[in-house]
Amino acid sequence: MCGIVAYVGEREALPILLAGLQRLEYRGYDSAGIALVPESTGGRAAPAEGEHRLLVRKRAGRLRGLRELVEQTVTQTPGVRYGTGIGHTRWATHGPPTDANAHPHTDCTGQIAVVHNGILENAVRLREELAARGHRFLSETDTEVVAHLLEEELAASGGQVTKKAWLAMLQKLEGSFAMAAVDARHPGRIWLARYSSPLIVAPGADGWLAASDIPALLPYTRKVFICGDREAVCLQRREANFFTFRGEPIQKVVHQIGWRAEQAEKRGYTDFMIKEIHEEPAIVERLSERYAPAGQVELPLMWPPSWWEQRRQGWLIASGTAAHAGWVAKRWLERIAGLPLEADVASEFRYRDPLFRPEDWALVISQSGETADTLAGLRYCRQHGVPTLALVNVVGSSIARETDQVVYTDAGPEIAVASTKAYTAQLVVLYLLASYVAKVRGRGQVSTEGLAALPRLPEQLADVLAREQELERVAQQLAEVEHVFYIGRGVDQALAAEGALKLKEISYIHAEAYAAGELKHGPLALIGRGTPVIAVLTEPNLVVKTLGNVQEVKARGAWVAAIGMEEYQSQARAAGVDTWFGLPELPRDLRPMLAATPLQLLAYHVARLRGSDVDRPRNLAKSVTVE
Ligand code: G6P
Repeated sequence: MCGIVAYVGEREALPILLAGLQRLEYRGYDSAGIALVPESTGGRAAPAEGEHRLLVRKRAGRLRGLRELVEQTVTQTPGVRYGTGIGHTRWATHGPPTDANAHPHTDCTGQIAVVHNGILENAVRLREELAARGHRFLSETDTEVVAHLLEEELAASGGQVTKKAWLAMLQKLEGSFAMAAVDARHPGRIWLARYSSPLIVAPGADGWLAASDIPALLPYTRKVFICGDREAVCLQRREANFFTFRGEPIQKVVHQIGWRAEQAEKRGYTDFMIKEIHEEPAIVERLSERYAPAGQVELPLMWPPSWWEQRRQGWLIASGTAAHAGWVAKRWLERIAGLPLEADVASEFRYRDPLFRPEDWALVISQSGETADTLAGLRYCRQHGVPTLALVNVVGSSIARETDQVVYTDAGPEIAVASTKAYTAQLVVLYLLASYVAKVRGRGQVSTEGLAALPRLPEQLADVLAREQELERVAQQLAEVEHVFYIGRGVDQALAAEGALKLKEISYIHAEAYAAGELKHGPLALIGRGTPVIAVLTEPNLVVKTLGNVQEVKARGAWVAAIGMEEYQSQARAAGVDTWFGLPELPRDLRPMLAATPLQLLAYHVARLRGSDVDRPRNLAKSVTVE
């Protein structure tokens, strides 16, 4: 999805904007652009009226293209500096990814430039009205209306963008947005606003910065102000003024970010994805020390034990990988804690008119804390009086702010689009939640074995990572194929879903996950000579059943690779498994946390062999902030 970065201060804005955009590349984008405001620095008269021209450069494709364009065309004029600017990476929604549709967008006079994340729902009508009044549009985007609307407000505000003009323009917008604007006549000033799309402001680099995401700001500061909905900001070199859309001033609270700048860097790894997979042992260790010191669960939950005793049913609200973590949690909550969880994906949940009962609760899971469908599901629950508990990775994100209570998954910044370490972190926290709920519901004995073994997990994960080459060899078998089936039962079915998602999103191989028992009801028709099937085998009471299904696909000529507990190897070989990756002994409840990693590594190596851009798969975005 789109990214925004803005800077006003004593330094040259251009390098800060380009570095910020680079740190936002992970969000997924297909064009990029910047707008800089010229200002004179003594020795030369201030630009005359007609000279107030913004320097706007934008280009479809990778950031490299914008960089080259900027190098060719931005020449330093003596006596002029560019200390104010805005930048954007665009993920096309309205109009294809062309140079013209890239942000920033300007008004008819070329004096105002705007960048925007989100979708303006009334853009078509506004555009027609503006065009009828003589405005000329140069792009197909919804965003361009903002520049022209602002232009119209100028007459009433003395010819330049003022707080009054900014607020009057905002009143006309419907939809979601985080936006930033600059005015050529007023260097040293940036106008910002947020409704339903993230926006963060921070002091640093001899001035003020703003961005849609924390990683863009990390090199300069770890103290940030998180804009709320219907909040606007005027940034100047030495101050930031926050106000509501009604113009009332707001006192903001500073947030301290625990992430470090180097966590958002590759640090010698080829890609972020592999770096993030390798961080998993340390994350598990950190989470178990933080949330289960001395083998006792200590999650920051405000609801008392009696509240949990009364719960009858939970509702999962999550998308993508986070939903897959929730599907594992469903098994844990039901089996360990005796608490049913209705586990849908958020995009279905929000439109299905769920039949809530008074003792229901909602479990919201999101790495970014910004996924549009997940956020909408959360809001739906709150409107209907259903208490919400959210597991979120990004501190201060929309979901973290709007939920009744939040538990942070503390995995550090996840940059690769395909989620890996955040998933493992979600599993750890979900398992601890299920154990805690089990205990307060009088079923604690079920989970003690798993809790006692948790401190062993980081080392076992490290052992799995040390055997990466074995998975590389399996990957070689898959590099040329067109279809792969993943099968499993119980928790292994949820793991299979995540394994298949990882493979399809980064290697572009068609990968489908099936409940092993469902094969006979359709997909078996697709199994033929050499069809690759990956079986997941961690569920003790279901191994024999899944291996029965393995025999069925083997009988039709399939090639089967299995990832499972080492103790099942001989049974698996007897069933005809061709390639085996064994996992060290671990109590049943912890096995998903261990089995996920080889599935991630397998997908990673297949994608590498196929030459994919592993961190930035085509068409996908890290944080899906539109429906
Ligand atoms: C996108 C990402 C996935 C992620 C999903 C949910 O599709 O590409 O990796 O699992 O969104 O994101 P969330 O931030 O809510 O966990």
